[in-house]
Amino acid sequence: MTILAPAVRALCIFAGMDLYQNIAESVDSIRAVTSSQPSIGVILGTGLGGLVSKVDVQTSIGYDNIPYFPISTVESHHGRLVFGTLHGVNIVVMHGRSHVYEGYSLQQITFPVRVMQALGVRTLIISNACGGMNPLYRRGDIMLIDDHINLLGDNPLIGPNDDRLGPRFPDMSEPYSQRLLALAEQAALARRTKVHRGVYVAVTGPNLETRAEYRFLRTIGADVVGMSTVPENIVARHMGMEVLGLSVVTDECFPDSLEAVKLEHVLAAAAQAEPIMTDLITDVISKCA
Ligand code: HPA
Repeated sequence: MTILAPAVRALCIFAGMDLYQNIAESVDSIRAVTSSQPSIGVILGTGLGGLVSKVDVQTSIGYDNIPYFPISTVESHHGRLVFGTLHGVNIVVMHGRSHVYEGYSLQQITFPVRVMQALGVRTLIISNACGGMNPLYRRGDIMLIDDHINLLGDNPLIGPNDDRLGPRFPDMSEPYSQRLLALAEQAALARRTKVHRGVYVAVTGPNLETRAEYRFLRTIGADVVGMSTVPENIVARHMGMEVLGLSVVTDECFPDSLEAVKLEHVLAAAAQAEPIMTDLITDVISKCA
């Protein structure tokens, strides 16, 4: 492969060219390595990679070995697609994800979701780190995403629609599955873990928000703010997948007492909440199939 090839391919995706064909090419390259039939896909967010250690791994493929997969440039994100079983359920895990602030288009960021769907995945579980704006939320808390607001100023479905992938105007009355939310809440109750249910607003980053922006985002109805998840959700819903979203509050974003955020603090809060996130996701996976 020449050095130019990935750049040319990236440009093609950016232009929305031949998405269906590109998905098939990615699937072929994965199928050359594994015949695994995952029904559940998991996208692990910042500092939330621990689930992988619980998976009975069959195959793990670096994103750089899968055509058209964006490669995360953020140190805290790995870049491997992991196939295996968890409690006997076939799953595929994205260990590492890309963000808008890295310069990728939303079509590129969401491409792996389309590939997972083509591999047989019908349920998508997404985790992320976020800033908590609801005054009842504390650093380290977990919020189940009930709904979202897209403030990315962009949408992964813009461009020609391929009806083989999904409808032109996908419904968004239930972006996050009420069935999966109920399973996650039951799991939390059984483990005596407090979880919130709320609204996630997506912004591009990479800078964190100003006090005025936090005030605004809270006013428009969001409980937490983050830089991911919404594009993946939109594409998953476009293809009819059921989605569960879990957010860890890694910093408190209260405008009147705002403190500077450091990446180490974000990672430390994610690390602290990570074991319980892993337990909740595992519980849902063992029950939802
Ligand atoms: N804002 C946006 N994204 C984030 C934050 C935040 O405060 N914390 C973690 N991800």
